[in-house]
Amino acid sequence: MQSEIEALQSALTHEINEATDLTALDAVRVSALGKKGRVSELMKGLGRMSPDERKMMGPALNTLKTTVADAVETRKAVLEEVLLTERLKTEAVDVTLPVEDRLQGTIHPISQVMDELAEIFAGLGFDVAEGPDLETDYYNFTALNIPEEHPARQMHDTFYLKPDETGERKVLRTHTSPVQIRTMLSEEPPIRIVAPGRTFRSDSDATHTPMFHQIEGLVIDRDTHLGHLKGTLEAFLKAFFEVDSVTLRLRPSYFPFTEPSMEVDVQCDFSGDRVKIGDGNDWLEVLGSGMVHPKVLKACNLDPDVYQGFAFGCGIDRLAMLKYGMTDLRAFFDGDLRWLKHYGFKATDLPTIAGGLSQ
Ligand code: DAH
Repeated sequence: MQSEIEALQSALTHEINEATDLTALDAVRVSALGKKGRVSELMKGLGRMSPDERKMMGPALNTLKTTVADAVETRKAVLEEVLLTERLKTEAVDVTLPVEDRLQGTIHPISQVMDELAEIFAGLGFDVAEGPDLETDYYNFTALNIPEEHPARQMHDTFYLKPDETGERKVLRTHTSPVQIRTMLSEEPPIRIVAPGRTFRSDSDATHTPMFHQIEGLVIDRDTHLGHLKGTLEAFLKAFFEVDSVTLRLRPSYFPFTEPSMEVDVQCDFSGDRVKIGDGNDWLEVLGSGMVHPKVLKACNLDPDVYQGFAFGCGIDRLAMLKYGMTDLRAFFDGDLRWLKHYGFKATDLPTIAGGLSQ
């Protein structure tokens, strides 16, 4: 019996080491350790042995079993290594080849503008914050000082979801302003963030789509005032439109979450075939802004006697249309390859302040 074990062990070790691929190796493993395998058959014999015999043969058979199993594992590792080396050889990509001509896709103008905005605001010391598209009524409205019966709720043409099991009715966020609330609740001032993202309203024509994009800005600190807001907006719009100077007109307006509130127009020229930003006799509204309302600060556990701040919200799609001259917003979301080829940006050109935002 002992010699039978030794003979089997050396036969199996030989077969294992001769296996040239994983399938062959597995066949050997099954023929040895499978239910009806050679090792398993020997182990079945233990039951017929006398106790003394079993005492001796039991451990010997167990050793055989683990030795064979170990040999299979070792061989498997070797074969896998060979396979991997071969794959790496055949699937090698020459990363030094020029990439330009081979890239078919383009960067969508919305992504491009979002990248440009992130780059501009990073230069001004802002972080990028995010919030969910699916928002609670509280963050989208109530915490922003838009209570239940407030007419602004109707103005937003909100998409509501069915109430969940607790009766809560989530909304598709109608603006990026709820990210203000989320940020103030989760971060300590000083806060400087922009929050670009998707927003939703039940509205559709050449300049409105049910899904659109906004960027929110929020600054909270101890001595923030309107001058900071104006300076920030000027720096942002000048950088974005890539002009040497912009003239802004701050018009008194109303938003529930800011006091005072302003709508901001940029000076421009409509007389040519394309809007020209930076000079001219026309004005174009580009964003809403104001000083964060004390009630909003309180809803976020901030003391309005200690902290103030400003906020602004701006349509990204509109910015893209103004800068790159598209006239119909709906085409942005049609996925028409001809449109994307025409208006899209090269994937290899990243917008940077130093290297230029849009060329
Ligand atoms: N949330 C507003 C809207 O969608 C835009 C806005 C206005 C945002 C004023 C602001 C703000 O942060 O201060 O119409």
